[in-house]
Amino acid sequence: MISENSKNLEFHLSTRNTSYIIKVINSKHLINLYYGKKIRHREDFSSLYQNFGVALGSSTSYSKETGNFSLDTTRLEVATNGKGDYREPSLHIIFDDQSRVSDFKYMSHQIIDEKVRLKSHPHTFSNDNTCKTLEIKLFDEVKDVYLLLYYSVFYECDVITRSMKIVNGNKGTILLEKVMSLNLDFSNSDFELLTLEGKWIRERHMNKRKLNKGVYYIDSKKGVSSANHNPFMGLMRSNTDENIGECYGFGLIYSGNHQGLIEVNPHNLTRIQMGINPFDFNWTLEVNAEFETPEVIMTYSDAGLNRMSQNFHELINTHLISPYWQKKPRPVLINNWEATYFDFNEAKLLKLAKSAKNLGIELFVLDDGWFGKRDNDTTSLGDFFEDTKKLPNGLDGISRKINELGLDFGLWVEPESISIESELYKKHPEWAIQLPDREPSLGRFQLQLDLANPEVIDYLFNSLRNVFKKANVKYVKWDMNRNISDVYSNYLPKEKQMEYHHRYVLGLYELLTRLTNEFEEVLFESCSSGGNRFDLGMLYYMPQTWTSDNTDAVERLDIQYGTSIVFPLSTMAAHVSGKPSHQVLRHTPIETRFNVAAFGILGIELDLTKLSTFEKKALTEQIAFYKEHRGLLQFGKFYRIESPFESNNTIWMVVNDDSSEALIGYYQKLQESNPGFECFKLKGLDESMYYSLNTRKQYLNVQHFGPLINDELPVNITEGGIIHNIICKNYMYEMDQEARNAYGDELMHAGFLPIPQFGGTEFSDKVRYIGDFGSRIYHVKRT
Ligand code: DGJ
Repeated sequence: MISENSKNLEFHLSTRNTSYIIKVINSKHLINLYYGKKIRHREDFSSLYQNFGVALGSSTSYSKETGNFSLDTTRLEVATNGKGDYREPSLHIIFDDQSRVSDFKYMSHQIIDEKVRLKSHPHTFSNDNTCKTLEIKLFDEVKDVYLLLYYSVFYECDVITRSMKIVNGNKGTILLEKVMSLNLDFSNSDFELLTLEGKWIRERHMNKRKLNKGVYYIDSKKGVSSANHNPFMGLMRSNTDENIGECYGFGLIYSGNHQGLIEVNPHNLTRIQMGINPFDFNWTLEVNAEFETPEVIMTYSDAGLNRMSQNFHELINTHLISPYWQKKPRPVLINNWEATYFDFNEAKLLKLAKSAKNLGIELFVLDDGWFGKRDNDTTSLGDFFEDTKKLPNGLDGISRKINELGLDFGLWVEPESISIESELYKKHPEWAIQLPDREPSLGRFQLQLDLANPEVIDYLFNSLRNVFKKANVKYVKWDMNRNISDVYSNYLPKEKQMEYHHRYVLGLYELLTRLTNEFEEVLFESCSSGGNRFDLGMLYYMPQTWTSDNTDAVERLDIQYGTSIVFPLSTMAAHVSGKPSHQVLRHTPIETRFNVAAFGILGIELDLTKLSTFEKKALTEQIAFYKEHRGLLQFGKFYRIESPFESNNTIWMVVNDDSSEALIGYYQKLQESNPGFECFKLKGLDESMYYSLNTRKQYLNVQHFGPLINDELPVNITEGGIIHNIICKNYMYEMDQEARNAYGDELMHAGFLPIPQFGGTEFSDKVRYIGDFGSRIYHVKRT
């Protein structure tokens, strides 16, 4: 809802639980009065305005008319340089005469009855006309430049989005040096900053630090949003945890170089900014031209981080993901990468596909290595023709045979990259990003294509369209395996080279728009060496992302927990891979590998042709369980209960819309000796509903017990001997099953008290044996 006090130019944007109030003050600047828990509307909010009425020592007074008023202590919605605000500006412009002072004042506003769509950027949208947008026009009359600020209100999700358009007038070309999408000033600094940090195979770990005076920023200079710092920032009050306390979340819908900045000034005002990274960026805006910034999502919760995340999840699932894929069940897939790497042929793939079909898998994904002469990662990127040595019947041949087995066919591509050893590079070396006078630095032996060049976009569009059509492709894994270096475009004139990083992203968005328009029913999964570009921008085009190249279940607890701070389960692809894990060489029980991957979009990525009977049976039951509960596991409301960053245990759960069903994931890193009692409080249930709680049937491989197996057997067998091996590969030892009936209020407030864990003595149904890297899934259902 947008309420307007037209006399005193106040705007109250309210969602179900939040209020965002802004105002035009006497000086005509647009300021923030309040953002937080919803307050009732009234006709005058001037009591929320706070500033110094006296001149302070060395402060700069804005103008004669406004007396002692200084911008330096004003909570601005747009911050510019040169009129007395000495904090970080959100907008910095160099004018034709080389002056750098700008000053934007209120000119007009309108309330638009819909969500305004951005022309060149991915953005949120509303298909049910429930979203309204406040457009505020600011004007720098000296320099004839307009700023259009867009605030859109997503009432149900407690989200407000912001974006900005800069329109140049007639007074000459201007140079945009910094154009942050968000500038928001808070009246105090009692916050902890939450960010999602990481690197390859260790993405999106939670990182908290107390705010202090000074300036701090997170960013990417890599050309992609990157795993180093996700384009997300959270501000939490000091008492906030998963379930209580105030917090704010900010997410930028952008896939390239970004910056998130926090400044606490000497008056304890906190400024937060988000937008395109001003480093290595500028943009020339000709007379009458305009520039659009990416959109920022803002949300507030007074019920801890879980609510904040759920707001993001709801927004992403209903207002960002392509309508075609919203709430649409995603298939269980087999991906051949960790099963074969580059070493495959048609026969090997078909054998893998047959085993997959027998386990209940629905989609076969052919990963890297199907094209050109790609037997390793040094060649052929850019060439979109099959390697006929590996695939004598071509892509159409293999895909037809896969379809005949009853599986859909999916394909890996890495369109943005080019190998120097490729047919494409021979023809078009000028299409690669590299400088004319320097040897380029390589990443994974490859260069990137110049997506600022429309010819490159056309080439990629046509090549991909051809491949997707001929192989009846139903799923695409879109990879991108290097960060950009040696930035230079052979296509752009020299005065536009500083625009390059942003133009790359715009080129990518254009290509994705064209492809996803033509292949709306193809499921695209974004990937960048795992999660190097897991961002809100890519999700607009591709509803799911390869979360991480780390498929180790224990590592995935941290990664998926951290990822869930912003991203819903429907966006997180998660695979059951082999033993040991290829990334950390850990041996993790197959049940835990599934129990972690099940909370996301499930895939299998191991050599299914070499499974033992034990593994086959376990996987078959797991896949059937996943398919039965897929709606919940992909689209349920997600609650984090215990954090892997703070505890030996991780607990999370998903609940369906009417709270009649839930699944709980419970994971333990290491087995403790003589452990204490446990109790965990469930979330999201209905207090008055009566529920049953049951453990998913799971199996333990008796290999785990080594020679101790003899304690249970009538005869003595030798560990590692033939009989022992046969038993280990075939015998399905059923783990403890727990069953409870209880009301929702009991499960949520008194908690679920599982039977105690094995304490080093009796091994029976009176104890739960979890072990190192052990886990359970509990199913909760209204009875
Ligand atoms: C990186 C991806 O993250 C992997 O899953 C795999 O597709 C490889 N690239 C293939 O080169």
